Amino acid sequence: MKFVRFIMKNAALASVPKHIEHFSKFSPSPLSMKQFLDFGSINACEKTSFVFLRQELPVRLSNIMKEINLLPNRLLTTPSVQMVQSWYIQSLMEILEFLDKNPDNFKVLGEFVDALVTIRNRHNDVVPTMAQGIIEYKETFPQDPVTNQNIQYFLDRFYMSRISIRMLINQHTLIFDGTLNPVHPNTIGCIDPHCEIADVVQDAFHSAKMLCDQYYLRSPDLILQEMCSKKKKNLPMSIVYVPSHLYHMLFELFKNAMRATIETHDNSNTLPPVQVMVSLGDEDMSIKVSDKGGGVPFRRIENLFSYMFSTAPAPQIGERTRPPLAGFGYGLPISRLYAQYFQGDLQLYSMEGHGTDAVIYLKALSTESIERLPVYNKTTLKNYKVSQEADDWCIPSKEPLDLSIYKVPK
Ligand SMILES: Nc1ncnc2c1ncn2[C@@H]1O[C@H](COP(=O)(O)OP(=O)(O)OP(=O)(O)O)[C@@H](O)[C@H]1O
Ligand SMILES: [Mg+2]
Repeated sequence: MKFVRFIMKNAALASVPKHIEHFSKFSPSPLSMKQFLDFGSINACEKTSFVFLRQELPVRLSNIMKEINLLPNRLLTTPSVQMVQSWYIQSLMEILEFLDKNPDNFKVLGEFVDALVTIRNRHNDVVPTMAQGIIEYKETFPQDPVTNQNIQYFLDRFYMSRISIRMLINQHTLIFDGTLNPVHPNTIGCIDPHCEIADVVQDAFHSAKMLCDQYYLRSPDLILQEMCSKKKKNLPMSIVYVPSHLYHMLFELFKNAMRATIETHDNSNTLPPVQVMVSLGDEDMSIKVSDKGGGVPFRRIENLFSYMFSTAPAPQIGERTRPPLAGFGYGLPISRLYAQYFQGDLQLYSMEGHGTDAVIYLKALSTESIERLPVYNKTTLKNYKVSQEADDWCIPSKEPLDLSIYKVPK
């Protein structure tokens, strides 16, 4: 019996490239907030969601699996990246088992929820494992700008794909496991149709403050202001959003702001507060986090979002006790992806010597909050093939030019 199972497993494994080929030919289907809410509304149909996911999850998985294969061989073959790849293959195979199952069978629907939970748990450590792969690669091979650019391009897309796959899995499992969320009964899956921004700001600030107090024995205060365009003056400052995503972004920004504030004012008895401005317009919900933590030189801003430039030490996989206010340097890039996931953005405006403004832009209207998803196609391929060509801007010389050679003899 064991032998038969072994043969079957190997046969399934052998057919994986064919399935990846097939499903990667489809483009992922981005969902809008409205569609997410419809899947979870009163007439939510588990069967419809099941039929959608057993096609859409393989499509999203296969699209990104094609891109994993485009990574430089020396990175692809690191044990960490191999492990991540094997999780993707395993999860794809588990979903494909549902392709020929009957959606009218309750038992099948139950098994599908269980399978999704198993998959979600399997992928819990993808970010630190992938980061470990990058570190292994960086330690062994010298970095070159083209590879750095490719890895940045890949990881942004890979982590965005992961955010989206987890969103689909979370929605299905939360909505159809048959229990109400006792803490937030009004949420639909993980979406809050009335996500009050100020509440999430307070929550995230409170958590960051506790960490900061533990580590530095002091922490700056919060000043929160809300602004609203005239039309919406009497409405609460809320949007349809995923509170956990917003919490993640704000928590990261607050940790950074607090650390910078404390480290630049370590000789002072008082700390300048972290100021937050929440502003709701017709199109944007913007949240600005301002600190007086000394800022960052303009030249470094882009690198703060780079996975390769992160100077943090190697993260320990599975380790839950990271240094409290600075981990492995993915706080900003991953937060920006969360903001971009529903067509928003996260930008940093800094003034070295003074402080930093970090602004999260979200869509105010749920009709405009639509998933932003990577797709594997010819353009993707081309982007991995960029070669290092000569720059069409002169590189400034470090040495002052000896102008005396141009002197005209008198
Ligand atoms: N508000 C800020 N003021 C000054 N420097 C900042 C600020 N925000 C970020 N930085 C700089 O950017 C770097 C990268 O920030 P990022 O949040 O991505 O990683 P990290 O804080 O080092 O680690 P973690 O993964 O825990 O967030 C920080 O180490 C810090 O040097
Ligand atoms: Mg950080």
